[in-house]
Amino acid sequence: MSNNSTEREQWGSRIGLILAVAGNAVGLGNFLRFPVQAAQNGGGAFMIPYFIFFLVLGIPLMWIEWGIGRHGGKFNHGSAPGMFDVIWKNNLAKYVGALGLFISLIIMIYYTYIESWTLGYSFFSITKKYFGLGDFTAMKIFLYSYQGREVSPYFNDISWAYVFMVITFAINFWILYRGISKGIEKLAKVAMPLLFLFAIIIAIRVATLGTPDPTHPENSVSAGFGFIWNPDFAALSDPKIWLAAAGQIFFTLSVGMGTIHAYASYLKPKDDIALSGLTTAATNEFAEVVLGGSIAIPIAVAFFGVAVTTQMALGGAFDLGFASMPLVFERIPYGEVFGFLWFLLLFFAGITSSVAMGQPVVAFLEDEFGMDRKKAVGSLAILVFISVQFVIFFLKFGFLDEMDYWAGTFGLVVFALIETILFMWVFGADKAWAEMNEGGDIKIPGVFRFVMKYITPLVLLIVMLWWLVNDAIPILLLKNAVTENIPYIWGARIFMVLICALILFMVKQAWKRKEA
Ligand code: ALA
Repeated sequence: MSNNSTEREQWGSRIGLILAVAGNAVGLGNFLRFPVQAAQNGGGAFMIPYFIFFLVLGIPLMWIEWGIGRHGGKFNHGSAPGMFDVIWKNNLAKYVGALGLFISLIIMIYYTYIESWTLGYSFFSITKKYFGLGDFTAMKIFLYSYQGREVSPYFNDISWAYVFMVITFAINFWILYRGISKGIEKLAKVAMPLLFLFAIIIAIRVATLGTPDPTHPENSVSAGFGFIWNPDFAALSDPKIWLAAAGQIFFTLSVGMGTIHAYASYLKPKDDIALSGLTTAATNEFAEVVLGGSIAIPIAVAFFGVAVTTQMALGGAFDLGFASMPLVFERIPYGEVFGFLWFLLLFFAGITSSVAMGQPVVAFLEDEFGMDRKKAVGSLAILVFISVQFVIFFLKFGFLDEMDYWAGTFGLVVFALIETILFMWVFGADKAWAEMNEGGDIKIPGVFRFVMKYITPLVLLIVMLWWLVNDAIPILLLKNAVTENIPYIWGARIFMVLICALILFMVKQAWKRKEA
């Protein structure tokens, strides 16, 4: 148990907490990653594995993480090392929990940078900086030169991107510094309603676009909805689609990251988690499926047709969000305003997630080292600021992608498997079930006890092994790596190993300090 006797922070209100956890989940993944995943993986048919994984992984992991988090909070632990130490009486527990700090920290480092592009692009929209660029290729050059991947007449260096990174970075750490109720909760109370409002305005604008070019009647919004939602059931026989759906569920709900635990640790012991966990998951799904599915892809099909949109989607979430959307904004009346709202909503979605990624480390430094908030946030800020330089300057060499794979994809399923086994098997299903239901405004349906104990870990194990064999090992062995990128990929790996070693060392020091 922690020897830190200072009063821990608490959430100010129930609605604030729900908005904060929903903000943690609703992110760039909902509006950029999801539509591309759905379009690439069978359209409407993608929703079948997606909802199956939502039921057997997403919802159960939400409750498990809220449960572990609130339980850890009772012992003054706001991060996974301390929480695992409480539920598993073993010397190794705290080191295994270090994974929860590692994943959230690594994702924060690159995610905050991507988030800063959205702020930059909201500025470029309202000032019409990209207006007049005629085609997708020109928009891509605009994006790539903004990111410093190439030089163009639009940007000849990285300075714009750097300025927006510094602003984004400063806002993130200022919010973390303000704390749980005065910082994170206040942000969520403002940003989340605005995000939904902007998304609804844009979705309505998209739905009323009809057929923008009468000479191409086949390119319409309804064709766009058809493209994203018409099911290609044959696609379901491909395991890749199932794995893509599992990966999306993890990323979008922010499960397996260590962030939900941190937020839940600031609950009171008898605060509801059963209904709150469900509400936040449902809010995320509304933002993702209803809103995320109604904007980027339908609008692209309406303007450019199915064939071109498919090409855009193949280029990934960034091409769709930062290259195809601006092309549309410059073509519609008041496009600068719609562009501004689109990128600002992405910024709100991003920042409510990135502060959550910073909170586990802040909580760790506060709870386990007894640091005050200023020092804890300051230490994290220095670490993230130094680290993000690699991401910025080595972006084109795949540095970010390597971090995203090991922490943001593979790491999530590993951490989720470990926490599920620890909570449901080591801590024990009876105690875990009682913990998750304590103070609940609803009773979690009994079937989920069975799901959490048997189905969730089994599915996690299968997904992890499948990824290990088909992706992780080939990626580790650099099977498809571009030769020029190999030194940078190794650089990213060494960087991650060093961060991991630093965290393990800090965990060791923290416990040594407490035992002294
Ligand atoms: N859940 C966050 C997102 O969807 C990380 O972007």
